[in-house]
Amino acid sequence: MLGSQETFQHSTRIRSLNKRWFKVCPSADLKPGRARSIRLLGRRFAVFNIDGTLHGLDGDCKHMKSSLAGGKLENGIVECSMHGWRYNVTTGECLTNDHSQLKTWPVKIEDNHVFIEIELPGLV
Ligand code: FES
Repeated sequence: MLGSQETFQHSTRIRSLNKRWFKVCPSADLKPGRARSIRLLGRRFAVFNIDGTLHGLDGDCKHMKSSLAGGKLENGIVECSMHGWRYNVTTGECLTNDHSQLKTWPVKIEDNHVFIEIELPGLV
């Protein structure tokens, strides 16, 4: 039987193994002011290009799960196309509802493609 210390170490190791990079799109397809999304295991993730800097974010609006990649993007703020909830693309902060923070995710460009690093349970 595992003690509490052993259980903690086991969970930590599994969590770190769950981080993976996923290809989103060719980097040429993500111009400044645009966004792209991917769906993995029932969740959507989005990458936004703000003046040449890429930002990874949860891709579903916290209100009713509309795709934020299809929203209006202006001055680092994305506005959901369904009912207008607004989010800071850099921080994930929801400017409409204090309890609706989105998670941010690392992104990179490699081999002319955009990748997002996400952590999902059950990917070990
Ligand atoms: S689904 Fe985004 S504001 Fe309603």
